[in-house]
Amino acid sequence: MHGVKRGVFISFEGVEGSGKTTQARKLVDWLAANRLPHIFVRDPGSTPVGEKIRNVLLDKESRGMHAKCELFLFLAARSQLTYEKILPALKVKKIVVTDRFADSTFAYQSHARDLPRRLIAVFNRFASAGLKPDLTFLVDIDAAKRKERGKFNDRMETETEVYHQKVRQGYKVIAGRAKKRFRVIDGEKPVDVLHGEVIRHVKEILARKGYKI
Ligand code: TMP
Repeated sequence: MHGVKRGVFISFEGVEGSGKTTQARKLVDWLAANRLPHIFVRDPGSTPVGEKIRNVLLDKESRGMHAKCELFLFLAARSQLTYEKILPALKVKKIVVTDRFADSTFAYQSHARDLPRRLIAVFNRFASAGLKPDLTFLVDIDAAKRKERGKFNDRMETETEVYHQKVRQGYKVIAGRAKKRFRVIDGEKPVDVLHGEVIRHVKEILARKGYKI
């Protein structure tokens, strides 16, 4: 790891049921098998404070939550995650894999909930110290298909189909704007095929950043 200056930050994004968490976990297993130093986090969550905020956000009893309140809670959880976990890990050259990050806020709170994009851009930068992933996988799947994949029970998951279609479109817009960072992968492909694609892209970026595999 001589040539490595800072760790690599990799995020997974997509609608619920897209298979992004499965792909993130498989990548983490691969990193462990290759003895590459890493951490795995989820946003919101992965810190004591963040997990509490996550529970408030996803609790069905939080139904009356205003969109602005929801936005600030996601940002609050992300700040804690960034300062407590992600930045320290990157500093000691670890690879950080996250299940969601700031792009989720654009897709869900801006595109689907119609909060102003410019404001969210400023808040996002402030909340997470301007940190952006080096590589983002968007696991893209038709919002109608996601239902086949499991139970959807929490406050966000039980939103309308129209809402989830908006989220998917939002992701596409964001990925189109940041083509260098995004890899859009087809969530309908078999898990192992997708994993192969993920590893190919990850190997590429690790080599570029000076990691030896
Ligand atoms: P997860 O179940 O995929 O971990 O995500 C938690 C839920 O929170 C999911 O419905 C997406 C939503 N979410 C937002 O609405 N905005 C955000 O900024 C983040 C990180 C997640």
